[in-house]
Formats: sequence, structure tokens, C-alpha cells
Amino acid sequence: MSFKPAPWPRKLRSQHWFGGTSRDTIYHRGWLKNQGHPHDLFDGRPVIGILNTWSDLTPCNGHLRELAEKVKAGVWEAGGFPVEVPVFSASENTFRPTAMMYRNLAALAVEEAMRAQPIDGAVLLVGCDKTTPSLIMAAASTDIPSIVVTGGPMLNGYFRGERVGSGTHLWKFSEAVKAGEMTQEEFLEAEASMSRSSGTCNTMGTASTMASMAEALGMALSGNAAIPAVDSRRRVMAQMTGRRIVQMVKDDLKPSDIMTKPAFENAIRTNAAIGGSTNAVIHLLAMAGRVGIDLTLEDWDRCGRDVPTIVNLMPSGKYLMEEFFYAGGLPVVLKRLGEAGLLHKEALTVSGGTIWDEVKDVRNDNPDVILPFDKALTQSGGIVVLKGNLAPKGAVLKPSAATPALMVHRGRAVVFEDIDDYKAKINDEALDIDETCVMVLKNCGPKGYPGMAEVGNMGLPPKVLRKGITDMVRISDARMSGTAYGTVVLHTSPEAAAGGPLAVVRNGDFIRLDVPNRVVQLEISDEELAARLAVWQPAHERAASGYAWLHQQHVEGADTGADLDFLKGCRGRDVGKDSH
Ligand code: FES
Repeated sequence: MSFKPAPWPRKLRSQHWFGGTSRDTIYHRGWLKNQGHPHDLFDGRPVIGILNTWSDLTPCNGHLRELAEKVKAGVWEAGGFPVEVPVFSASENTFRPTAMMYRNLAALAVEEAMRAQPIDGAVLLVGCDKTTPSLIMAAASTDIPSIVVTGGPMLNGYFRGERVGSGTHLWKFSEAVKAGEMTQEEFLEAEASMSRSSGTCNTMGTASTMASMAEALGMALSGNAAIPAVDSRRRVMAQMTGRRIVQMVKDDLKPSDIMTKPAFENAIRTNAAIGGSTNAVIHLLAMAGRVGIDLTLEDWDRCGRDVPTIVNLMPSGKYLMEEFFYAGGLPVVLKRLGEAGLLHKEALTVSGGTIWDEVKDVRNDNPDVILPFDKALTQSGGIVVLKGNLAPKGAVLKPSAATPALMVHRGRAVVFEDIDDYKAKINDEALDIDETCVMVLKNCGPKGYPGMAEVGNMGLPPKVLRKGITDMVRISDARMSGTAYGTVVLHTSPEAAAGGPLAVVRNGDFIRLDVPNRVVQLEISDEELAARLAVWQPAHERAASGYAWLHQQHVEGADTGADLDFLKGCRGRDVGKDSH
């Protein structure tokens, strides 16, 4: 894509605050001088906001203040003026009911923080799952030049000589405890071995997926995604990012120049190749909505269909992010896609050049971690989009995390009306269920939970686990952690709480899953389905006030990214009137 840099020098938006000698200017500039800034810092050089999602309660981003210092060093070196700004940090492991309910609130808060303040360019300092999409959505809605640098993944975990993957082994070990194969004491010992260093989950979970999506979209410098949090090269990356954003401001290289439809298609294919999280579906749809790109679930199925999963990382494979970095990281995957004709090579990146220029000369240093196409984990690794009377607007399934033998399956529905119903019944030995059944969970979608929790990979009943069975077909309107696995149909749309057909599935109904033909079907007649829907009533009351009310009133379906309807689109960077 050809990009024509803006002329430089020119007046930047920060000069609306800092330029000149008026009373208003002195009000904006004079108070900042209490930080010890010399007068010439306000001379029209790019002011770079380092938007930092550090928080003691977002442990995955707990090291970002140190990293911010390296970003600042890069900004100073390139002649910019760095300002670190703490922003809303939606932590995956502390926010309730689910961090996803706050992704849009974070995006709203950050968008306004960017537009309302004297920022010419932004470094998005992110890591934990929701922090990456929320800040990219904000940047897209302001279209202020922005660049992502992530905190990087934790080092490998080890327990009794075996690699332990964040999340992935949490699910495995908890099932092992339920099956009587592991003691509670061993589980505690394993917990202590999982998180060995600063950083995000070390699997190809949602954080690593979204870091990879940012890189594949062209919104981060090449190689950013995989560098471990504690590797000195992560700090080099932060400094280089600081240097780069200054030039991006001078050139006026904006998110809308980079996040084009070809860039999103590159990201979708990359997600298939890395065996990335199903959460990327929702986040990329929402990001595209912010830049006005018409991206649909059909694009996910179309682009991902013929892309093999070649990154041998948990939860789909056996290695962790540390090994991915040593093998060469995402640039190797992008090169492989380009060689196979599966990459829009001309897509622009934050470098100012094309994505192909960035990756064409890299090499693979471990073909057991980044596999050849003919040894792929799954030949068709893209997220599958299913339709049928159970999901008229679509549902998704991740083939690389599923059991091949269950891809075509017909089973009796065992229904849980909500997550509390599931928790109350699942361990009951009298529950009428076996491994041929289809577990159905309702009321866990964007409005229903609210926020759409990662509960779609429901744990199996103990009596099934004791038989050595590790997977069953599960269907819900929930999400699934990017670190999880199983033959799990997710994001069923419309959701149950919005009156989707999932709401009227009954115990004993039969459900047919046919992944090759993209079908998920409730085996009842159209008349019966219509009759059930006609008398359907919501199972839960909605929030009466506060942000939960706003969210439930305005959140859209998972099939379009679960953004708030009034936040879609780009509102630009214009600041409006000064109030002083
Ligand atoms: Fe924060 Fe996984 S929980 S990155």
C-alpha cells in the first residue's frame, strides 16, 4: 500500500494546548512546568502519550512501568516529548464478572483520554488479554498515530520436569483432580510453578494471540509479539518503539492507514497459523468496526479455511512462547504465509514499509516449533464459523483445539440454564449424562452473563472423566479462554439472553454438529422452534443502573464483535472547544 507522509514541520494538535502566549496556553503549559520541564519542550515537537495499563491488580502488566522508561528513552532520543499516562487496565484474572464486560469501557475511557489531552501520538503499553484490544479500539476511534508494544510472555513454567502452560494446565490439572489422578497438594505445588516471571500467559492464549494480531495487523514493530517479558530484547523493543512513534507523528501515519481490510485478512490467516484464541474473532471484529472496515464472521471462515496451524504451542501443541521466540517468532510465520500466497504482502505497518519487507529475510531456527506446512498440527486451522437453526447469526469453533472424532457428532442435549445451574449439577453422580451427550450452557453471552465470560469450555462430569474421556461436544453463547481446548462451540448468536434459539433447547433434544459442512442444528421442526420462541421469557433480570446497565442496554452480539453500539466508528482526533 502506498503511503504518502505528511509534510514536516507542521503544527501538531498539542500546539492547541501549548503553542503561543495566551492565557489558555499558559494555563495548559505553565502547570506542566511543575514537573521540571524546560520551556523549549513545548516548542512544537511531538508529544507522545505512553498509555500504560500497568496495575498491581493486572499482574500480567505488572512490569510495564519499567518498560515505559525504555519507551521514554526512545521518544527523547528521537526528539519527542514523552508523557506517561495511566489508563484503564481490565485485568483478566481479577475483574468480575468478567474482564470482557470492561473491554468497551476501557476503550471508551482511553479514547477520551487520548482525544481530550495534548497527545500527538500514542504508545499503547499493553499485555493482558483485554488491554490490547481495548487500547487499539481507542486508538482506532481517535485515529491518532499509535503503536503497540506488549509486555511479553512469562518464561516457561515447569512442574516435575514437564512444561506447564498458563491456563492450559490449570484446566488439565483441575480435571485430573476431579478424576482422582492428582491430589489437591500436587495441584498447589503445580500452581507455584506456573508463573515464573513477569509477563503474560506463556501459552498461545488470548494475550499472546492479541500480541500476534497487533503485529500481523501492522500495529507493532516486527518481532514484538514473542519476546519474553524478562528478556533484555523486550526492553530494546520498547525503546525502538519510542523512537518510531515520533517519526510516525511527523509522517502522520495513522491507525486507519494501517488497519485496512487486507491487514485484517492477514491477521485472520495468522490466527489460523498460530492456533490463536477464539477471542481474537470478537476483538478483531470490534477493532474493524472502529475503523469502519466491513469485517464479518464469513471473512473469518473464508480466510482461515485453508490455513494450516503450524505453530506447535499449547493449547493446540506442546511448546510455549519462550520456544516460539527462540524459533524466530511471528515474523517466521508471516514469511511462511507470504511464501504460500496467504499474506497481503503490500500491507503497511507502523514501520512505514510493507509487512513483507519486514519478514522476507527471517529464518526458522526450530522447525519442531514452527512446523512445515506438510507437518501442520491441523491442515485447516482457521476458526470455523458454524450456522444452523441453533446459531442463525453464527457460532465459532477452533479446530486445532478440538477432537477430530467429534467434528461430526449427534448427541442428546444436557442443558444448563446458566453457569450457576451448571455448577450445581455437574458433579452430581445422578446427572443423566454420558460422553455421547452434548452439553448446552445458556445465558453466558454479552448481555446474559453479563460480559460473556470464558466458561464455554465447561469441565466434564466426574463420572465421564473417570472413564478416561477428556472431551465432549459443548455448546454455549459464552467465550473460552485462549489457553483452553476441546470440541467447544462458542459465541452462539443470537445469545440466549437476547432470545436466540439457544434459549429454548431442552433436555433430551438432539443436536447435530457437522464441522466440515459448518452446521450446528437443533433437531426439531421449524414449527416447534417457532412455538418455543413465541413463549420464551428472559431468565434473568437486567441491571437497573450503572455501567452494567449501560453495557446490557447497548452491547451488540458476539457475531459483530460485542462492542457498544454507540462506540462503533472513528470519531477522529478533533478536540473541540477549549473551556478556559
Ligand atoms: Fe493476563 Fe493471561 S491472564 S495474560
